[in-house]
Amino acid sequence: MSNIERVHYLMSLLKVSLMAYKINEELIEKIKDTVNIVELVSRYVNLKPSGSNYVGLCPFHNEKTPSFTVSESKNLFHCFGCGEGGDLISFVMKIENLSFVESVKLLADMYNIPLETYDKTFNEEIKKEKDILYKINKEAALFYIYKLRKTPKALEYLRGRNIDHNTISKFGLGYAPNSWNEIYDYLKSKGYQDSDIEKAGLINRRKDNTGYYDKFRNRIIFPIIDNRNRIVGFGGRILGEGKPKYLNSPDTIIFEKGKNLYGINLVHKMSNREKIILVEGYMDVISLFACGITYSVASLGTAFTQDQAKLLKRYGKNIYICYDSDNAGIKAALKALDILEKEEVKAKVIVLPGGLDPDDFIREKGLDEFKRLEENALNSIDFKLYILKKKYNLDKLEEKIKFTKEAAKLLKILSSPIERDVYIDRISKETNISKEAIGREVFGNSYKSNTRIYKDKYINGKNRYNKNKILPVKAVLEPAHLKAEKNLLKLMIQNVDYYKRIKRSLDREDFFNYECKNLVNIIYDEYENNPGLTKLSIGLIINKLEDKDDIDYEIIDEIFNIDIVTEDINKLIEDSINTVNYFKLKIERESLANKIKELDLKKEKKKEDVEELRSLCIRLTELDKELKTHMQRLGKEGT
Ligand code: UTP
Ligand code: MN
Repeated sequence: MSNIERVHYLMSLLKVSLMAYKINEELIEKIKDTVNIVELVSRYVNLKPSGSNYVGLCPFHNEKTPSFTVSESKNLFHCFGCGEGGDLISFVMKIENLSFVESVKLLADMYNIPLETYDKTFNEEIKKEKDILYKINKEAALFYIYKLRKTPKALEYLRGRNIDHNTISKFGLGYAPNSWNEIYDYLKSKGYQDSDIEKAGLINRRKDNTGYYDKFRNRIIFPIIDNRNRIVGFGGRILGEGKPKYLNSPDTIIFEKGKNLYGINLVHKMSNREKIILVEGYMDVISLFACGITYSVASLGTAFTQDQAKLLKRYGKNIYICYDSDNAGIKAALKALDILEKEEVKAKVIVLPGGLDPDDFIREKGLDEFKRLEENALNSIDFKLYILKKKYNLDKLEEKIKFTKEAAKLLKILSSPIERDVYIDRISKETNISKEAIGREVFGNSYKSNTRIYKDKYINGKNRYNKNKILPVKAVLEPAHLKAEKNLLKLMIQNVDYYKRIKRSLDREDFFNYECKNLVNIIYDEYENNPGLTKLSIGLIINKLEDKDDIDYEIIDEIFNIDIVTEDINKLIEDSINTVNYFKLKIERESLANKIKELDLKKEKKKEDVEELRSLCIRLTELDKELKTHMQRLGKEGT
């Protein structure tokens, strides 16, 4: 928020704070879910990653070394210098000098969280109504649990599905008797109103309007519990055969199917949030749990939603999708991958064999086998290739070509050339189609395979090649210099404007590192020969590097993968150019000094020698002056 905006905002707060505002829990919850504390604090404090946290200079006391720490996973900040700490709301209170209510409002405003939605729930009546539904659900769950104990055939059914008593009680499983009115009568006897029981979704109104009947009949009951341990709804599976197989509570004022996940309550309690598995069904969650996988959840009888993706992201650093291995499951997994991708989550897919769901699988094969599949989970590209392979019969030439073309399309989105090459290699082996041909599908006509070089030099050969073989020029390089060269190259590849800017200051010869020299030649050539180009493709550059087998592809790959993060790209360019020039001068000075020494050692100096010595010394003085200016600009100490 700019200063002006802030002033306006604070003025509007004045008006608001005149009203007695009640902030409800859901709004606070929503703010905590929406706002990333690192992002928020970064608006005020310059933060740098440090281990799993972020650190910066504390805004609440004067300090020179950063002791102000922000934990993204815990959503908290703490200053080890002054002891100030808290969550994002207390951060805003402190830094903006606002009350709690004002801070919540400010945050809602900053992050476009519509207060109106929550205004409803400010309303006491709605809160009361919700509380009644929670109570009804709890009462109903207890009733169903009691009924399960009293119904041998239901217990038998669960036992038949390998669910022990411990698991039954962990999930609060129950049984809805085969009756039209038992839950209705029971809840009535507890004093609840028809309308409230109906709102909870436990009974339906008769068609002829003569009363109500129980919604769940002769079903195993799965209470759906949110991460605050409230029963928000129910799922019910028919005992044995029948339709529909599963029945779920309708959406109510306390239950939105698309925003909840079955099992999240247990994950909330038990998981270290390292990983979480998304499965299709209630029984999958329960079976996995019974076998020791305590970190799976299921979407609730609807397709996986964006809101559920957000919830998953909160609960697992690594997200796995383990859907049924039928066609519907595969389709749904692809869709879930997409939805998660939108949350910037790279999920993996656990592929189950032959038509099984996780429940079947773990019962048949056990925990170890499941863990093995989990370890071998496929990333999105691998999973898509796997599906393609199933789709086509690679024994038939025509299908093989179709497969290869579709596979090549998938590889285009990979940004790492090494990764692409590895996949091209793999597809080539699979299809017996040459790497060159596949590469041309991916990169266009200019592709030539570098796999051999990559593999020999980089992927397989870390120890086969002498990585310590230091090129002469590397000896005089300092890391800062190499870094500067790499940054400049990456920028030039990305954008012709950066190339133009850099070329004004640096010639090809100014780049020292061998790999960088090779790249800069290609980059300058390409832009010079193709005036329309706005950026360069990595495929093309790799192709141009040809079969130079003394290139260290690790360095090339590093350059391609540099993530340039800076607020001031012009400054980065200036600094990098300065660094490169500084080293250029340093190297020149070194060779000059050597020459002078040599000449000086000559016993009998000729006239020309004296002349040369003189001019070399003048140049040396000049160089020293230039070096000094550079050092000052770079903020270095004299060497
Ligand atoms: P499945 O049909 O894959 O059932 O539905 P399942 O989990 O293998 O069930 P079991 O093993 O036969 O008991 C997966 C999920 O889809 C929803 C439910 O949430 C179920 O857990 N579903 C399925 C429904 O909502 N209604 C249905 O009629 C069927
Ligand atoms: Mn099943």
